Amino acid sequence: MLNFQYYNPTNYVFGKGQIEQLGKLVPEGAKVLLAYGGGSIFKNGIHQQVVDALKGYEIIEFGGIEPNPHYETLMKAVEVIKEQNIDFILAVGGGSVIDGVKFISGAVKFEGDPSEILKKRILLTDVSKVIPFGTVLTLPATGSEMNSGAVVTIKSTQEKLAFGGSALFPKFSICDPTVIQSLPKRQLENGVVDAFTHVLEQYLTYPHEGYLQDRIAEGILQTLIEVGPKVVANPTDYALASNFMWSCTMALNGLIQKGVPNDWATHMIGHELTAMYDIDHARTLAIIGPNLYKVMFDTKKQKLAQYGKRIYNLEGTEEEIANAAIAKTVAFFHTMGMDTKLSDYTKDFSNTADFIANRFAERGWKALGERQNVTVEKVKEIVELSY
Ligand code: NZQ
Ligand code: ZN
Repeated sequence: MLNFQYYNPTNYVFGKGQIEQLGKLVPEGAKVLLAYGGGSIFKNGIHQQVVDALKGYEIIEFGGIEPNPHYETLMKAVEVIKEQNIDFILAVGGGSVIDGVKFISGAVKFEGDPSEILKKRILLTDVSKVIPFGTVLTLPATGSEMNSGAVVTIKSTQEKLAFGGSALFPKFSICDPTVIQSLPKRQLENGVVDAFTHVLEQYLTYPHEGYLQDRIAEGILQTLIEVGPKVVANPTDYALASNFMWSCTMALNGLIQKGVPNDWATHMIGHELTAMYDIDHARTLAIIGPNLYKVMFDTKKQKLAQYGKRIYNLEGTEEEIANAAIAKTVAFFHTMGMDTKLSDYTKDFSNTADFIANRFAERGWKALGERQNVTVEKVKEIVELSY
C-alpha cells in the first residue's frame, strides 16, 4: 500500500431532524452568512428549519448561487462578508452552494487576485486565512459536505476549474436524508451517477495492495446499484434515502482514495463539457467515463475485470469480462436515466474534441490519469468516441 495521511476534521451529523442541532454547531455569537442557491430551500421548508434552529444569531442571507457556481457571483458574497464583518458561513444546498462557499471562504482573506485560486490552483491550507463554514446538505451527490475540494466556473472565460486544500473542510455538515424528498428525479439520478463515478475514479486504475480500499469501494458501488433506481422511484423511503446519502458521502470523503492510485481524468474532461454546453456534471461523467475505459483499456483491463467479476458476477477471459463490465456500466447509467452520448445533449459538437485537447495543452496538462498516460491525444480520442 502507498503511504498516506488521512485527515478529515468535518463533524458529520447524520439523520432525521438533525437540522435542529445547528444552534449547537454554529459558534456562539457568530454573525452568520446563510448562503443558498436558486430558492428550492424556501419551497421545501429547509430555510424555515434553518432559521428556526438559528434563533438568536444575527443572519445575513446571500442567495442566487447557481448550479456550477460562478466566480462572478461568489465574488459578490465576498464583498458582503467584508462589508458586514461576517465570521461564519452556513452553506445550505447541494454541491454547487457548498463548493461556492468553499471559494468564498478562501477568497475573503486571499492576498492578491482571488481568481488565481482557480487559475493557479493555489492550495488553501492555512485555517487562519479562511472564513470557517458549515453546511446543511440538500442534495446527496458530490461528497463536498465532507471533503476539501471544490469546482468553480469563471463565466467570462467559460472555464470550470477545481481547487481545494486542507483549510476548506466544512467544520460540520448536517446530512438529513429526508431533504431528498423535494429533489427532482433528474437530480436524484445525477446524485447516484456522480457518486458511482467518484468510486470508479478511485477504483478502476490498476491492481495494488489496497485490498481494504477495494472492498470498501465495491461495497459503495453495490449499495448504489441496489438503492439507486429505487430511491429515484421512492425518495420518501427513509432506508433508501439514508443509504443513498451516506454512500454519496463515503464515495468522496477521502477514505477510499488513500494509499491507492487515483484517476480523475473523466472528471477533468467532463468539466469541459459542462463549461461548454452546460450539461449537468453527472451526465458529463456518463458520457465520458465508459469511453475513457475503452480508450485506456490496455492499462485498465485488470481492474475492469475485477470490477466485472465482483460487482456483476461476470465470467469469461479477462478481456471478455473487462469489456462486458464497461457495457454493464453503460446499462446502469441508462437505468439511472442518463443519456450517454454527447450528441444526445447538443447538435453542435463537431469541434469539441479539438477544443478540449487544445485547452488542456494550453494549460500545460500534458497527461492525466493514474499512470499519467491520458495524453492530450488520448483526451481527443476519448471525446471523439463520446460524440
Ligand atoms: O439552487 P437550488 O434552488 O437550491 O436548486 C438546486 C439546483 O437547481 C436543486 N436542489 C438542491 N437540493 C434540492 C434541490 N431541489 C429540490 N430539493 C432539494 N432538496 O438541485 C439543482 C442542482 O444543485 P447542485 O448543487 O448544482 O447539484 P450537485 O449537488 O450535483 O452539485 C454539482 C456541482 O458540484 C461539483 C460539480 O462539478 C458541480 O459544479 N462537484 C463538486 C465536488 C466536490 N466538491 O468534491 C465533486 C464532484 O465531482 C463535482 O465536481
Ligand atoms: Zn463528480
